[in-house]
Amino acid sequence: MGLLDGKVVIVTGAGRGIGRGEALECAAQGAAVVVAEFDPERGEAVAKEILASGGRAVAVAGDVADADTADALVGTAVAEFGQLDALVNNAGILRDRTVAKLSDEDWDAVIRVHLRGHFLPTRAAMRYWRDAKRPGHLVHTASTSGLLGNFGQSNYGAAKAGIAAFSTIVAMEGARGGITSNAIAPSALTRMTLDLMPQAYRDGREASVERGEFDFFAPENIAPLVAFLCSDAASHVSGKVFGVQGDSVEIFQPFTSVAEIRNDGRRWDPEDLSGRIDELFTASGIQAGPENMMLRMRHQILGEH
Ligand SMILES: NC(=O)c1ccc[n+]([C@@H]2O[C@H](COP(=O)([O-])OP(=O)(O)OC[C@H]3O[C@@H](n4cnc5c(N)ncnc54)[C@H](O)[C@@H]3O)[C@@H](O)[C@H]2O)c1
Repeated sequence: MGLLDGKVVIVTGAGRGIGRGEALECAAQGAAVVVAEFDPERGEAVAKEILASGGRAVAVAGDVADADTADALVGTAVAEFGQLDALVNNAGILRDRTVAKLSDEDWDAVIRVHLRGHFLPTRAAMRYWRDAKRPGHLVHTASTSGLLGNFGQSNYGAAKAGIAAFSTIVAMEGARGGITSNAIAPSALTRMTLDLMPQAYRDGREASVERGEFDFFAPENIAPLVAFLCSDAASHVSGKVFGVQGDSVEIFQPFTSVAEIRNDGRRWDPEDLSGRIDELFTASGIQAGPENMMLRMRHQILGEH
């Protein structure tokens, strides 16, 4: 018995990396999988891998930020497997540059693939679940680059923070129909991130994997949480943002107000704010500058971007 027996799941960007792991795990848990992938060969290869291990899968090639492709994903799930139960929005790209060097094209491409690429398949799924009067599960892919910030990734981080907000709002809109919406911030070594690692680190990792040790940054480590969030076992979990890497699953605190200053029922004067803003930092324990070691590091990264 699998967690997703009899279910139908779409995974976008499933031709490699984290998405491939998610597609394989959902199939291993009993789901029929629509493998959505920009690169047709990679998508077909993953669908074949699932079929070869006795599962059900079909590949759909195309750009998830294109409405016809997004609609075709849901259409294919229903035509091939009779229904849709969950959608995993995972497809993504990077175009890293500091803001001053960032081109219009690199801004637009990243915002388009991530935000439109999450919105359009989600809209197609939400319309299907509304019309079919069925519940459903959505998993979206955010990133710590959006939640914490990351040097050289203003386009990507803005899109990823937008995805966390998008997921929260879809959770509100889906609640009455039994639709859950959650976001993950994964971390894994894939085509997207491997090149950022020093060669010595990559060699060390390969050696430790050869010794049979747990590969903390394997992209397949993201999939168990995602399969769980796609299942009815997670029907009570919605509007949340999870961190996931290796054997670690974290939950992020939502944006929340933690301190307040008032001005006795009158509009603030900017000069008065300059005298009182520190009250917020004192009351909340939040610092005016970077909060912790990770953020201090991210503020100080220098180099050619
Ligand atoms: N790898 C990490 O550490 C990490 C960290 C945070 C977030 N993420 C996010 O996880 C997701 C998967 O990343 P990955 O590391 O596996 O990357 P990857 O590059 O290995 O795989 C991404 C896949 O998405 C596909 N894709 C890209 N644009 C597409 C489009 N428009 N339509 C259809 N398919 C498209 C690519 O062809 C590729 O197969 C991305 O959203 C990424 O931003 C990854």
